[in-house]
Amino acid sequence: MESRVRMKPVYILNGPNLNLLGLREPAVYGTATLGDVEALCRSHAKSLGLEVEFRQSNSEGELVSWIHEARDRASGIAINAGAYTHTSVALHDALKAADIPAVELHLSNVHRREAFRHTSLIAPAVNGVICGFGTNSYVLALSALHSIISPDKKG
Ligand code: DQA
Repeated sequence: MESRVRMKPVYILNGPNLNLLGLREPAVYGTATLGDVEALCRSHAKSLGLEVEFRQSNSEGELVSWIHEARDRASGIAINAGAYTHTSVALHDALKAADIPAVELHLSNVHRREAFRHTSLIAPAVNGVICGFGTNSYVLALSALHSIISPDKKG
């Protein structure tokens, strides 16, 4: 009988204001709610054989604590840090300290938007960045993480 080691979950972390998805600036962020995004992530993760831990916080400190937790408990991190992307040295340092694969993602193409969104303080601390594909950015980020965590498998 095949014996399988259970893989640690992938943490999908969402930052400030993402709890308002669906209501917030739908022309920029679309009409899907965060619940819809979670369902999409769970379905895609299942197809990749990944477990997910999906969370959102408006608090920078809570996001830092979750990244610390992920260091031991997660196989990787997909993070949409929202506005903290552009301001947070603390999230940069936490992601560096986590020392596990991580992907930064955004619903919108931040590079087509205001100049203050063109800088990411967390990008140098992650494996790669995905932005501009709406909710599909989450799907692409999960596939990217999967290819890092399980490089022998496609997806
Ligand atoms: C965002 C882009 C950020 O600039 C913004 O502050 C957000 C959402 C995105 O998903 O497109 O809150 O991370």
